[in-house]
This record gives sequence, C-alpha cells and structure tokens, in this order.
Amino acid sequence: MNQTLDVIMKRRSTRAYSHSPITDDEKDTILEATLRAPTAGNMMLYSIVEVDSQNLKNTLAETCDHQSFIAKAPWVLLYLADFQRQYDYFDYCEVSRLCQERGIPYRMPETADLMLACCDALIAAQTTVLAAESLGIGSCYIGDIMENYEVHRDLLHLPRYVFPIALLCLGRPVRELSDKGRSSRFDREFIVYKDSYTRLSGGDFKRMYGPLETPADAPRQYYQGADNIGQAMYLRKTSSDFSLEMVRSVKVMLDNWK
Ligand SMILES: Cc1cc2nc3c(=O)[nH]c(=O)nc-3n(C[C@H](O)[C@H](O)[C@H](O)COP(=O)(O)O)c2cc1C
Repeated sequence: MNQTLDVIMKRRSTRAYSHSPITDDEKDTILEATLRAPTAGNMMLYSIVEVDSQNLKNTLAETCDHQSFIAKAPWVLLYLADFQRQYDYFDYCEVSRLCQERGIPYRMPETADLMLACCDALIAAQTTVLAAESLGIGSCYIGDIMENYEVHRDLLHLPRYVFPIALLCLGRPVRELSDKGRSSRFDREFIVYKDSYTRLSGGDFKRMYGPLETPADAPRQYYQGADNIGQAMYLRKTSSDFSLEMVRSVKVMLDNWK
C-alpha cells in the first residue's frame, strides 16, 4: 500500500473538530490541489464559496436539516455547479450574435448541462476531501445543501444557472479516529459488474446486506418498528421530511433552470 492508497482507505467522515486551526498555507495547498481535479472539457463548470461568516455557518447549520456541527466546522466550503459563468462569458463573446449571423440556434443551458456541472463540482469536492485528508484534516459532506433552494439562492446571491450541489465541513478530528466503528461497504461483487449491468434480487440482497445485519446495527434496522433494513431505510431516508424537502427544492431549481 502506498501513501495515497493509505489516505483513501483510512478516510472516514469527520463531524467533530478540534480547535486547532487550518493554516492559510494548508488552505492554499488544498485549493490548488482541488483546481487540478479533472473537469469536463477543461471548462471548470463549478465555483467554490468559502463560508467565512459565522452567521452564515449558523444559518446553513439550520437550513441543512439542523446539523449543528456545520456551525462548528473551522472551514466550510460550498461547491456550486456553475453554468452561469460559461454563459456570461458567451454573452461577453457575443456568441448569440454569431449564432444569428450563421442562422443557428443559441442554445440555453439544459438539464444535461446541469448534470455535467454537478459532475465537475463533485469531482472537485472529492479532490478537496483527499487533499485535506492527506494533511490530517478531516471532512464531511452535507448533501442537505440541496434543500431550501430559494433560501440558499437568496442568501448566497446565486444566479439562475448556479446550483449548490455539496457543502463540505473541514477540520482536524477531535481525536484520532480508529478503524473501529468505520462504516462498512457492500461487497465489491454487488457494485462492480463486467460488461453489462446486473439487476439484483432476493438472495443477492440477503448476502449484500448480511454484513450490516449485526447487533450494533439493530437499533437502526428496527427504526420505527420496521421489520428489516429496507423498511427502516425507507422510513429514515427516502420518505423522511428532509428527503421530501430535497425533492421539492430540486424541482423548483430545475423548473427555474429550464
Ligand atoms: C453526497 C453526500 C451527502 C452527505 N450528506 C451528509 C449530511 O448531510 N450529513 C452527514 O452527517 N453526513 C453526510 N454525508 C456523509 C455520509 O453519511 C458518509 O460518507 C457515509 O455514512 C459513509 O461514511 P464514511 O464517509 O465515514 O465512510 C454525505 C455523504 C455524501 C457523499
């Protein structure tokens, strides 16, 4: 195992942060590494907002499903899928005039463009995660930033073709995190296929979830009287208030984008 693999294999989400600050040098190094992330067509269809203001952190801790650790994170970075910059540049370059002269349509950003921009933003975010981890700085994604679209749009002055796809909380872990308690993963056979997709059924699921059906997982498994992990997962995640809010919020953003 080399050092890079060691960092990848040992990483786990960090939600409690020590008071030891992240230095400006460390931030510079991490952001420089982030900008080296692969990006579709080298277009860099993303922007990053450093959330410095404590007031803003406090607000995000509330609007992102009341996760108080966001307010305590020493460094908070917001990843935006950004097609606005591209189209503002097209405006600056008078691309619409060119299209008119050539009799070709001037195409506005579509859902496919948003997906591409989300890919760019998330790949950049994960590059941040690994660069930070290599310096002993932990992180945790906050997917709930996709909720409350209108609130976040107004709060952060987001124009039409910008969508907040991920928030990252970063900081040194309060204590050295051991391998114990590290979340498990499905076995590779259920995730990695050869040449075509494999749709799973009954027995596959039994084996796939087997390692998760441990006594330690039982409280989660039997959440709200659920009989099994699937039922618990649906109640805890898919049909939960935060998930329904995410569905609503993303729909508003998509309607606005289109
Ligand atoms: C897209 C995405 C969204 C996530 N959102 C949250 C979140 O809102 N709050 C949180 O505490 N963890 C969040 N996480 C962290 C996951 O819960 C965590 O990665 C997962 O449980 C696996 O644990 P590990 O990262 O320690 O291996 C998110 C992770 C991803 C990739």
